[in-house]
Formats: sequence, C-alpha cells, structure tokens
Amino acid sequence: MQSIVGQLLATCFGRPRGPLGRLGGHLMARGNAATERHAVALAAPAEQDVVLVLGPGPGVGLTAAAERSAHVIGIEPSDVMLAMSRRRCAPLIRRGRLRLSPGTAARTGQPDASVDVVISVNNLQLWPDVPAALAELHRVLRPGGQLLLSAHERWLPTGLSALAAAVHAAGFDTVRTWTWRPPARTAPAASQLTATRIPHT
Ligand SMILES: C[S@@+](CC[C@H](N)C(=O)[O-])C[C@H]1O[C@@H](n2cnc3c(N)ncnc32)[C@H](O)[C@@H]1O
Repeated sequence: MQSIVGQLLATCFGRPRGPLGRLGGHLMARGNAATERHAVALAAPAEQDVVLVLGPGPGVGLTAAAERSAHVIGIEPSDVMLAMSRRRCAPLIRRGRLRLSPGTAARTGQPDASVDVVISVNNLQLWPDVPAALAELHRVLRPGGQLLLSAHERWLPTGLSALAAAVHAAGFDTVRTWTWRPPARTAPAASQLTATRIPHT
C-alpha cells in the first residue's frame, strides 16, 4: 500500500490531478525548466522532424521543441497537465506546430515508424512496464530515429547501466549514457541516455 507521502507525491507530480496537481505543475515548470530545455537542445530536432514529447507536464519542453520543429506531438496521461500545456503552448498550437493527446509511453497512439525524435524528461521512473514502453517507442520511431531519456538521478534506483541494457534489448543501437548537472546548484543531477533505432529494422 502507498504511504500518505507517496500518494501526495503522485498527486502533485506522478500523475498530477486537482489543485495539488496544478501546484505540482507550477513547481515543475520552474524546477525542471533547465533540464527540459537541455534535453531538447541535445536532441536538436530540425524544422521538418516529427518530435514526440512524453509526459511533458506543464509544457516547458514542448515549447522548446516546437520552437525548433514544426511537427511536435505531446503525449500526456494527466488532464491537469494537458490543460497546463495547452495554456502555455497556445500560440504554438494555433500556428499548427504542436498537438497534444492523452496517452502514455506504452500507448502513444502514433503510427509505426512515424516519429524522428522521442524525448522523455522525468517520466520514465513512472512507466509501469519499461520493456513495453520501450517496445512502443521503438515501434513509432523510424529506423535511424533518435531516443532521448532523462530522469532525476535519484529517481533511477536501478541506475543508468540497467536502463541502457533495457534500451539495447528493445532494439536500439549506439546507446550512450551520462550524468548532467544543471547550472543551478540546487537543481538535481539528471541521468541521461540517447540511442538510435537500428536502421533497416
Ligand atoms: C514528474 S512529471 C515531469 C513533467 C515534466 N516533464 C518535467 O520534467 O517537469 C511526470 C509527468 O509524466 C506524466 N506521466 C505519468 N505516467 C506516465 C507514463 N506512463 N507515460 C508518460 N507520461 C507519464 C505525468 O502525468 C507527469 O506529467
């Protein structure tokens, strides 16, 4: 059974809902902004790339992605976060550069081989079935497409090498991992990984 603290964290940050979820969204928009922007800068999508952003929460990373790419899709299971992202990104949605849909990493609702870049910041620790989610991301990425995962270091108890092994087992190649320290001393270090879907598979 989940503790009261665990329930509170889930309501604020895990799958935000209600007023506490909105509060969590505001806190994440401030505290995680540097990591969200850094992840998009690392993935460096081009204007014509299709970019899938998983669990964007309040939408800071979506904005950064849709400033670079004209085809961004945000997949988010929380209604409260979908509403916050919609508000933050309204101009980009109006310009047709971004669309938002309910879903999860394991059920993105996207066609096979339709995405050039997948970006996930601070949600892989919430995936209930990591191999199923990685299989889904492998399915939607085109051969040669890029996967970028980032999570607070303390939220990855099994470590980056276990994650890298799971990513490799899902059919990805050129798996690279490292730890990134945001400029603000108080912001948590991020465990990060990039990989490509093996071309011609
Ligand atoms: C801790 S928040 C991170 C939000 C934002 N990316 C950030 O770093 O500030 C986790 C987000 O992932 C979403 N989420 C939860 N379970 C998910 C899943 N299985 N697949 C994708 N996103 C999920 C939550 O609704 C929430 O918006």
